[in-house]
Amino acid sequence: MTSIKHYLQFKDFTREEYDYVFERAKWIKDKFKRYEPYHPLFDRTLVMIFEKASTRTRLSFEAGMHQLGGSAIYLNTRDSQLGRGEPVEDAGQVISRMSDLVMIRTFEQDIVERFAANSRVPVINGLTNEYHPCQILADIFTFIEHRGSIQGKTVAWVGDSNNMCNTWLQAAEVLDFNVHVSTPPGYEVEPERAGLYGTDHFEQFADPMDACRGADLVTTDVWTSMGFEAENEERMKAFADWCVDAEMMSVANRDAVFMHCLPAHRGEEVTAEVMDGPQSVVWDEAENRLHAQKALMEYLMLGRIKA
Ligand code: CP
Ligand code: NVA
Repeated sequence: MTSIKHYLQFKDFTREEYDYVFERAKWIKDKFKRYEPYHPLFDRTLVMIFEKASTRTRLSFEAGMHQLGGSAIYLNTRDSQLGRGEPVEDAGQVISRMSDLVMIRTFEQDIVERFAANSRVPVINGLTNEYHPCQILADIFTFIEHRGSIQGKTVAWVGDSNNMCNTWLQAAEVLDFNVHVSTPPGYEVEPERAGLYGTDHFEQFADPMDACRGADLVTTDVWTSMGFEAENEERMKAFADWCVDAEMMSVANRDAVFMHCLPAHRGEEVTAEVMDGPQSVVWDEAENRLHAQKALMEYLMLGRIKA
């Protein structure tokens, strides 16, 4: 089963593969905007397994699969045997015999890795505690649309060193850009946890203003990710000075964009002024989940389409 291509971490694809997927995403998006049908996944089935809540991920995968001519089935922990202790390995065997593609949103990365090791079909990580590769795929596609290649650029990450931060760090290594990270003390990046194979592409800053200085993209995320709710109160106190505001944006490059994977909490990790301001591209970013993942699903299932 080792020859199947999965998408479990950002570093599962090479730079050349990303060049291809971004190009396909643009082609698929343009075609969709022209209302031209494109059904390369006709009759194929995507199974989506959710062990955590979702708006964008569910919607973009379900709509995306439908638009590509296939269908999507939603499973969650509460209503399936996964919540009653069926081993993830067994679930991988069974679900992959009845479908063509699987997306999983769950807790530990180990769960998607074990599922994939037992799957006959490609598996996509729809968010784990450690990574959120589909989101960064859409984010970089959005950056390219607005500002061109991300190579050599600087991304400022302000806030928690969570699944989004880890994935930005992996992306920086694969696509050759820099990430400036600023977290409160005690929440710093652990390169090993971020799955890094080098540390040349990121730098940590105690002061978020220093992380934002000269950045081409400023981004943040919730202070308390799903699964960490018990820490919410202490996190609210620890992160109070890590709210992306106009002052932070003012030291970034003049044409810097602001991104947030959403859902956002105005007044916590970002001010309303920045979130709803002229540099914010958050709605394009959210929409691009759809187009980027359609390209991802096409690539995992059909490989490279000859021009
Ligand atoms: N950004 C993101 O993954 O959103 P959902 O949690 O709504 O899927
Ligand atoms: N870091 C957040 C992202 C939500 C899309 C979480 O894991 O809850």
